[in-house]
Amino acid sequence: MRIAVTADLHFGHNRLGDDATQLLLQHLQSQPPDLLLLGGDIGTDEHFEACLRLFRDLPCLKALVPGNHDLWVADNDHRGDSLQVYGHHLPDLCKRHDYHYLDTGPLILPNEGLAVVGSINWYDYSWSLERMKAEVPDWQWHLKNKAFTRGRHNDGRFIQWDTDDVRFTAQLVANLERYLMMSLDQVESVFVMTHHPAFRGLSFPRPVPARGLDALLWEALSGNAAIEALLEKHAERIPFIFSGHTHRDVEAQRGPTRGYNVGGDYHFKRMLLIDWPAGTIESFVFGDPSVRR
Ligand SMILES: [Fe+2]
Ligand SMILES: [Fe+2]
Repeated sequence: MRIAVTADLHFGHNRLGDDATQLLLQHLQSQPPDLLLLGGDIGTDEHFEACLRLFRDLPCLKALVPGNHDLWVADNDHRGDSLQVYGHHLPDLCKRHDYHYLDTGPLILPNEGLAVVGSINWYDYSWSLERMKAEVPDWQWHLKNKAFTRGRHNDGRFIQWDTDDVRFTAQLVANLERYLMMSLDQVESVFVMTHHPAFRGLSFPRPVPARGLDALLWEALSGNAAIEALLEKHAERIPFIFSGHTHRDVEAQRGPTRGYNVGGDYHFKRMLLIDWPAGTIESFVFGDPSVRR
């Protein structure tokens, strides 16, 4: 089985990126995989559906997790708040265009002995909360406003919902655990795909330990410890984890699991092609990483 994985297409964001996505599509049309996985940040607002249409006629299974940008809403957005977009609007679009929305259930492929489980995954500050409390004056204000030394994380403006990061993260991890257990009951191996990095080794490549407000706040807003613990517990049956969000391609081994952050950015795209069960991986780049505009 050949599985193509990409992420952060940000369709409709700019011309260079969309040109690169078209090249990616042409490549897939010339050699269709058996399964296409999209790792979130697919397209804001109406661009999400436009991106689904783009790949719709590829003769393969398609599955996805959304990304934080896909949940951004405007005031009085016609689609509802970010939670309604996540729980209703996006799954409805996926159903209409024949994509498996992994946040509502696993994709189980009994003939391959494989399942794919996925989640947007979120952040609950646990990656740096204790250090923020100890080292950052006004840490609560910075977390609440997602405010760096200069500027704010756009999630602070465009994620609007009747929940909070900590509750949302706990719900997602509980869902993922359920999907993982359902899958492990039926097949031998599980691939995991998340938008926000599933473990620290897949996050932004930066000096460890993080120092200063900005680095600690990025840690706080990048992932969570609960999903790391969950995936570690079942690592023997998880050969691959794929994440996105950081726009930096990273490969990291964690016990028996090989982790990949797909990478790609607003102006170029990356794709991984996995041959299963051989476990070999090829990577592809579309567009020119050195030309931003
Ligand atoms: Fe992104
Ligand atoms: Fe993202």
